[in-house]
Parts: sequence; structure tokens; C-alpha cells
Amino acid sequence: MSSPLHQAISSLADPNSSALVVFSDTTLVLPEAFQAWDLELGGLVASVLAAGDFRGRADECLLIYAPQLPVRRIALAGLGTPDRTNLEGLRRAAGIAARALQEAEVTAAVYHLPTGLRATREDGDAAPADLAAAVGEGARLAVFEFVRASKALLEPKPRLTVFEWVGEPLHHAAHQAGWTRAAQIVTAIDHARRLILRPGGDLTPAVFADEASRLAGEAGLRVAVMDEQELASRGFNGIVAIGRGSEQPPRLITLHHEGGEPGVPPIAIVGKGVTFDSGGIGIKPSRGMEKMKYDMAGGAAALAIVLAAAYLRLPVNLVAVIPSVENMPSDRALCPNEVLTMYGGLTAEINDTDAEGRVILADALAYAAKDLGARAIVDMATLTGAVAIALGRTICGVMGTESAMTAALIRSGRLAGDPGWELPLNEPRFDDMVKSDIADLVNYPGGEASSITAASFMKPFTFGKPWVHLDIAGVGWSNKVDGYRIKGPTGAPIRMVLHWLQAGAPGA
Ligand code: BES
Ligand code: MN
Ligand code: ZN
Repeated sequence: MSSPLHQAISSLADPNSSALVVFSDTTLVLPEAFQAWDLELGGLVASVLAAGDFRGRADECLLIYAPQLPVRRIALAGLGTPDRTNLEGLRRAAGIAARALQEAEVTAAVYHLPTGLRATREDGDAAPADLAAAVGEGARLAVFEFVRASKALLEPKPRLTVFEWVGEPLHHAAHQAGWTRAAQIVTAIDHARRLILRPGGDLTPAVFADEASRLAGEAGLRVAVMDEQELASRGFNGIVAIGRGSEQPPRLITLHHEGGEPGVPPIAIVGKGVTFDSGGIGIKPSRGMEKMKYDMAGGAAALAIVLAAAYLRLPVNLVAVIPSVENMPSDRALCPNEVLTMYGGLTAEINDTDAEGRVILADALAYAAKDLGARAIVDMATLTGAVAIALGRTICGVMGTESAMTAALIRSGRLAGDPGWELPLNEPRFDDMVKSDIADLVNYPGGEASSITAASFMKPFTFGKPWVHLDIAGVGWSNKVDGYRIKGPTGAPIRMVLHWLQAGAPGA
């Protein structure tokens, strides 16, 4: 009785509220250690398989109640046909099982880690650390708890909060490393998701800056926050002008992760932090406007990326730059046709106050490129509804100035299960589209190619630094439960960018 499986189960605080998760593809050949354990205890799982109650299909999950076993429940999680299994399938299966267990009010899960799974066709077999990380990520991402303003009528339900693993002794160190990595990444993602869920009136730019400072302080990051007065005096006129209509003054949040060699220029991670986007004077239709609390999802992602970099001790210098405003109409608000002298000196005609994200990001990009000495810049923003029309709600828009960096981020997104697809940007035709008659640039040249022209507007503010823009308006929020995705904030593109940073930021 001293196999790793026995040990893992005997270490559980309460076997009555625990479960063992076992993955299987459609061959239904379970891990040897598990088969031996099952037979020793009467062969319950073998008989369930023989009866055909579980087929191992992708996304299939069967919960078996087994009072006679040392752990009360076994979840069989399907991976599909063996030629189709990959890390994303493993994340999904782990997440679906976690959700089923949480429904059953299970509070602790032990995942039996599979071996030798194909990661992707191009990448061959996944390393044990990556298998463990995929399982840990899928499981933890799937059971995110919504913040509720009032719990008066809601019975508090037990949550699945304990995640353990059991695997081959040979891979113990690698499994543990992957498992810890996943827990750290999901901790950072959950900080972002909690912030994204807070409505505009609650999470104002000042509160966002305070929360970011607190989280960053706990993680040992250096933080600087500029208030409205400082922003105005230093010439961040895009941020100040967009924030002008609101009683809630804007902020510019800067967070430094210094994990690399001192003096090596940082990679800048810039995120749109519009805490509520009413559209401003160009007000949006009321139907669906409540969704615009997630217009700071890019800023929350930028924060989460530097937090995770600190948790993971990534050996790289990073600086997160988050311009944060509330975009509101009022008698003081920015008026259509005003021309702004932006940070860095370029002028911009604002003909649409609802195209506000690119304006505040322009100031932030110029600050990163000119003042912070960034060697490369990645920005992430819920920038255009059009990107969801073009690519849907599961693939973000990727536009960049350096093809190697763009390709590397897209590849990381694919491997991390946080995908993006490239839209063209490096074409004079798109630069021409954002030229203004009365200023250097116009913020909204019309609906044609509007995800691309949003990026073209920002491009001059990167002053030639390698730059990739991620439009997450579609992927930032999920309207349905799917695999390990919850209904609500997804955490995109945090895992894509972290994968790229962990790979050494190729192309930057
Ligand atoms: N925050 C919105 C974009 C958005 C739309 C995010 C839907 C998430 C879901 C952005 O500021 C905006 O208003 N964009 C306009 C662009 C237009 C006015 C140039 C849009 O997409 O319609
Ligand atoms: Mn807008
Ligand atoms: Zn917006």
C-alpha cells in the first residue's frame, strides 16, 4: 500500500469530499499504476469500462461514486482518439472534470497525470512538465469563482480548491515544476479576472491603480502611478482628454519586473485600461453597454503578465504600462473634431470619442518607446468590435511590425491554448487610411478594415520599436462555458504572452 497512488490518496485531508481524476483516450487503456490499484480494490473502474459506460471521447466525463474506495469518487475524463490528443485536449478534459467535481461539491481533486501525450503535430511528445502544467491550468481555470455583490439569497456552495497530482516517480520533479507553474499563472490570471468583473463605478482608474499597486507590491514589483495633474503637466494629452468627461480622473500605471541583467532594455507590455467605455459624447447604444466594464481587460492582462513573471521569476526585464480612464459624456467631455497634441508630439484629430482606446494607448506606447527605453512592445486591448466579426470569440487579432516577433507570439498562442491570427498591418495603404486633413492622424477613418486602422493609428507612436498589437475585444470575454473556459473573463492573452516570454521572447 505504498504506491504513489496510495500515498496521494492517504495524504488527502478528507477522502469523503475528494476525487481521483483519470484520463483516458478512446482506447480505454488506463495507466498501469491505476489499473493495478483498481484491481486491488475490486476492479470497479474496469467493470465500468467493460460495461461501455465511458468511451474516452473528447470532453466526456463520467463521475463514479465508490464508497468502498479510499477516495469516494473517481472521474474518468475523455481525451478522444489517440491521434487527436494534445495539450489543449488535456486542458479541456481537466477543466471539464474539475467543473463536474465542483458541481458534486467535491473540494479536493487528485489528477492522475498521463504520459507521452502528443503536444501538437509539429512539436512531438509533450514534456512531463508541460503535461502537468496543462492539467493544472485547465483544472484551475475552469473553477473560477464569480465575485458576487450580494450573497443574501445565495447558499454558499463548497468550492473545489485543492488540486493535487499523482504520476510516475521518474518524472516527479518535472511534474511538480509544471504543476507549480500552472498554479502561479492561474493565480495571476484570477487576479485579472476579478478586476475585470468589477463594474465601472466600483473599479475606477484610481481604484484600478491602487489594486495594481497592492498586487505588485506583494509580488515585489516596482510601481509608479501618475495622477491627472502629473499626466497633464507631462503632456499625456490623449489620456487626459479621453478622461476629461468623467468625474473619475485618469491614471497611468507603470510596473517594473527586473528579472534580467541590470541595464538590459525591457520589453514593454502595454494594456488598455478603460474601466468603463460608455463611448463618451459619441455615446454607445444602451443595450449591451454593461459589457463595457471589460474594456480594461488588456490592462488587467498586462498587470497579470508582470505579476506572473514575478511569481515565476522569469529572467527578463519587463515594464507594464497601463493607461486607465473612464470614457464618459459630460459638458466637459472631449468633443468630436478636437485636435490633440499627443505624448511624443504627433497630433491627432478625434472625430469619434468612442475610438478612445487607441488614443490612450498612443500616449502609453510613446512613453514606453521614448522614456522607458523599451526594446520591443506588446500591447493588448479590447480595441474593436470588428475583430470579433473577423475572427470570432476564440482567436485574437494579431498585428505587428516585425514578422519574426509576430510569428513567435502566434506560435506561443497556439501552444499555450490562447490563440491569435495575423491581420495585415505593414502596408502603406493602411498608414494612408489614418491620415487626417487637419492633423497628423485621425482616430476613426470609418468602418472599413477598422481593426487594422486602429493599429495603424497607434503605429507611429511606437517610434520604430518592434511592436505587436493584440486585439482582444472578441476573446477577452466568453459568452459560454466551453472546456476550461468559464462564462465571463477569459484571461486572454495572458498565457500567450507568458509562453512567449518563457521561450525567451523570440523576435523581440
Ligand atoms: N471598447 C470598444 C471595443 C469593443 C467592442 C470591445 C465590443 C469589446 C466588445 C472600443 O472602444 C470601441 O468603442 N470601438 C468601436 C470602434 C469605433 C468607434 C471606431 C467599435 O468597435 O465599434
Ligand atoms: Mn469605445
Ligand atoms: Zn473601448
